[in-house]
Amino acid sequence: MTLLQVMADSDAADVRLRTDNPTQIGAELAKHDIVFDRWPTLPGLGASAPTEGILAGYDDRIAELNADGRYQVIDVARLHPDDADPRWPALASAAREKFRSEHRHAEDEVRFFAAGRGCFYLHLDHDVVAVVCTAGDLLSVPAGTRHWFDMGERPDFVAIRFFEQQDGWIGDFTGDPIGERFPTLDELVAA
Ligand SMILES: [Fe+2]
Repeated sequence: MTLLQVMADSDAADVRLRTDNPTQIGAELAKHDIVFDRWPTLPGLGASAPTEGILAGYDDRIAELNADGRYQVIDVARLHPDDADPRWPALASAAREKFRSEHRHAEDEVRFFAAGRGCFYLHLDHDVVAVVCTAGDLLSVPAGTRHWFDMGERPDFVAIRFFEQQDGWIGDFTGDPIGERFPTLDELVAA
C-alpha cells in the first residue's frame, strides 16, 4: 500500500497528514514540485522476474519518461530476502544503513518500483514527508532535496533507477542524524 505521512521535522509525533489515497498523495507532493506517478504494473514482472525482463517490460514507459534523453543510465536495483544464505541478514542490514542517513544529490533521484516497497523521507522546510512506495509507484526526489531512504528490516524490492550521470547516485551527506528520530518503514506501515 502506497502511503504518505507528513510530520513536523522537529517532532515526528506531530503528524500533519497521513493518507493512502494516490490522488491525494500526488497532489500533496505536487505542492512541492515533486513528481509522483503511478504506472500500471505488468503481470509476470514482479519480484521473481529477471532484471532484463523488467527493463524490457517497462520499455515504453521508460522511453516516454526519457523522451528528452536526459537519463544516461537506466538500471535496476533489487534486493530480496534469501533465508538460505547465512550472510543475508548482514548484507541486508548493511544495504539498509547505507541510505538511512540524510543526504542530497546533484541530480533528481528517480525511482520506479516494479515490485516490493521502500520509504523515501523528504526533508522539506519544516516538514518531513515520508512516502512509502510500492509496486507501480514512480517518485522523483528533486536535486538538492535533503532526504533519506529506508528499505525496511526485510528488504524486498525491484526498482528501476534513472540517472543523468554515471555517478548520479553519489550522496552529499548532511551529517544530521534526523532519520533516527522518525518512524522506520516497518513502523509507518504498521501504524
Ligand atoms: Fe538518495
